[in-house]
Amino acid sequence: MEIHKLGETAKKFHLSNEKAKALLDARIVPHIKKRGTHKETYYVPQLFVDYAVKSLGLEKEKDFKRLEPDPALLERFANKEGVKVISFSNLKGGVGKTSIAANFAYNLALLNKRVLLVDMDSQANTSRYFANRYFVGESIKNIFDKMTRKEPVTDEDVMRYIVPISFDNATLSLLPSELSLGRIVELSRSVFTLPHKKLADILKLVKDRYDFIVIDTPPSTGLSLHMALFASDLVSIVTDAEDFSVNGLNELYLEIRELAEETDHDVRVDSVFINKVKKSNIHSVYIEAIAEMAAEEGIENVYVIKESTRLKESQNLHIPLVEYKKELEKRLPIAESMIEYAVEKAQEA
Ligand SMILES: Nc1ncnc2c1ncn2[C@@H]1O[C@H](COP(=O)(O)OP(=O)(O)OP(=O)(O)O)[C@@H](O)[C@H]1O
Ligand SMILES: [Mg+2]
Repeated sequence: MEIHKLGETAKKFHLSNEKAKALLDARIVPHIKKRGTHKETYYVPQLFVDYAVKSLGLEKEKDFKRLEPDPALLERFANKEGVKVISFSNLKGGVGKTSIAANFAYNLALLNKRVLLVDMDSQANTSRYFANRYFVGESIKNIFDKMTRKEPVTDEDVMRYIVPISFDNATLSLLPSELSLGRIVELSRSVFTLPHKKLADILKLVKDRYDFIVIDTPPSTGLSLHMALFASDLVSIVTDAEDFSVNGLNELYLEIRELAEETDHDVRVDSVFINKVKKSNIHSVYIEAIAEMAAEEGIENVYVIKESTRLKESQNLHIPLVEYKKELEKRLPIAESMIEYAVEKAQEA
């Protein structure tokens, strides 16, 4: 991925360094800023340049010349179609759903989108991905608790459990999970006639505060997954490229289709991330099989992510992959597809 520093960005936009800096600081051009001990360094991936040009309705990069660094311009980045809800799913565990959902959500936030990351997995890995803390007694479980007691749930009840996670370059909102979520979700099966609608009911209360809601799901079929799928407009499938991965995808498709029919809810599989790919012939065979299947299903967004210790390292430090301090140029290629998907969704909005 091509990355520009401040001077190169200014040149691309035919601006002085000062004006380029002002446009970056007003977040009219999305970027990643690193604070060193002596100076700040700005990094602008080409994908962000393209995004800024398109979303501001400019013809070319040099049209930036006309722009004044006015934060009101940010409004032109805003969603026109209302909030989009995207679930990251696979019935198989350990394939990277959480890693990709969390990083994708962060990349959307970098593009100035208001993003709510919802953890529907009682393992609560998403909750801890950036926050590095536990949310016992302070999670989405509390909201389900109230619902199963048949008490009215308001937007205030939901907002009480949404926590902001602030980074240097962006802010995300998180609706965390905890271990006992699974139990309370199952309990709702006996309490409600249409239990699969309950997450959608919760999110409806706060939807207008966000441009995107990103949901991470557990690695199994069950009510938590059904709730997430029912609340979603789009599903992104995350898979590895191993034997049985293709079978697993078939099962997930079937599950999604059946649920869509049963509940009369239109949810579309929008992308496939083939993750943890190693350099080997056997992997390329599985990648081909998965890509073929995606093509048959009419899915255009198929991304491949290599296995990389950098993703794990950044996760261990609770930092988004693109913000991981050292060797940004080396990390961005691993993050590229997650950025690309974020740019694509943000542009559609
Ligand atoms: N591309 C990658 N390269 C190296 N490690 C990865 C990659 N993607 C994910 N991992 C690691 O694999 C492990 C599982 O990832 P993750 O938790 O995102 O998967 P998951 O599908 O959400 O798992 P679960 O089904 O348990 O929820 C984590 O330790 C994560 O850091
Ligand atoms: Mg997970």
